[in-house]
Amino acid sequence: MQPASRQPVGSRARGLSTSSFEIVGREDFSDLTYTLEVRHPLMARAARPGQFVIVMSHPEGERIPLTLADFDADAGTITLVIQAVGKSTRELQRDAQVGTTLYGIAGPLGVPSSIHPLRTVVCVGGGLGVAPVFPQARAFHENGTRVIAVLGFRSADLVFWEEKFRDVCDDLILCTDDGSAGIQGRVTDGLTLALDSYDDVDEVVAIGPPVMMGACAEVTRPRGVRTSVSLNPIMVDGTGMCGGCRVRLKDGIRFACVDGPDFDAHQVDFEDLMNRLGSYRGDETQAVQAWEQSCHRAETAASEVLVTTLPTDDGRA
Ligand SMILES: Cc1cc2nc3c(=O)[nH]c(=O)nc-3n(C[C@H](O)[C@H](O)[C@H](O)COP(=O)(O)OP(=O)(O)OC[C@H]3O[C@@H](n4cnc5c(N)ncnc54)[C@H](O)[C@@H]3O)c2cc1C
Ligand code: FES
Repeated sequence: MQPASRQPVGSRARGLSTSSFEIVGREDFSDLTYTLEVRHPLMARAARPGQFVIVMSHPEGERIPLTLADFDADAGTITLVIQAVGKSTRELQRDAQVGTTLYGIAGPLGVPSSIHPLRTVVCVGGGLGVAPVFPQARAFHENGTRVIAVLGFRSADLVFWEEKFRDVCDDLILCTDDGSAGIQGRVTDGLTLALDSYDDVDEVVAIGPPVMMGACAEVTRPRGVRTSVSLNPIMVDGTGMCGGCRVRLKDGIRFACVDGPDFDAHQVDFEDLMNRLGSYRGDETQAVQAWEQSCHRAETAASEVLVTTLPTDDGRA
């Protein structure tokens, strides 16, 4: 371990724990989506549904906020489900293999989800949002609430964790855009079906892309069903200091990292959230292009070394 005085300033100043965290499991759900199981006994004990962590894969790495998709206090592990959308998540996808370590993990961060006994709750997950809604579905199941899951994917080959959800849900409505599994339609169709089928739904929890969460809010608003969403604005420090994760609600501004990430869906200005998420698109495109070029240069250099060290016909290198 590095002496404290030689740790990067960012990690000391922002309380990032920099022991090495071993990756003990990995599964790739698709070319873009992968799950990492990471050994971190303290985090696994402290984690609550709805919370997130900030990960640095290496000392110069960007801080990546990721929801705790699962945690197992007995095994001492946490599970992260990640979509490779840009430079840092692609770099992590390439480097985070079983047996390697993550440089730093801060957390658990954010206010835990409010889990209280209800008659029926509908947990809606869209795409990658399926993973973070799991701890909430399990916690409601454990407190005796009837749990209906509505899970949405583009097609059957992208479906993950269906069995894991079936273990903690009383009913599961699977939706695919192309109808290759479950019903053909979006999660809003599945949510409507659930609300029509169960007349005692006290709450809906919806997690996914902002446009999906906004659409779910419009399904439940006229029915007056309380709806909670987990917001993912751009975060930097994750501790309420930088203001990056500002979200606009009907009654004022909040910081998602310390006041959320869960909020009342009927209060959220989703358009503002989507605009803010796009603020750095140009920089993000440049970062990914620069990274791809450096990967290409490294590959070319490695193949040149290989060629120059291959033996010639007469056996000399
Ligand atoms: C509370 C929270 C929980 C999250 N949970 C997950 C999760 O479980 N799995 C997952 O795959 N992703 C999750 N995200 C999003 C994830 O943090 C971003 O996709 C990631 O930081 C993108 O970095 P990049 O360099 O790969 O992509 P970039 O090219 O830098 O960005 C791609 C897009 O990701 C978003 N983004 C970029 N930087 C950040 C940042 N610092 N904070 C938030 N969003 C950012 C922006 O919308 C951007 O347009 C979560 C975000 C938040 C705030
Ligand atoms: S991430 Fe800085 S205030 Fe929330």
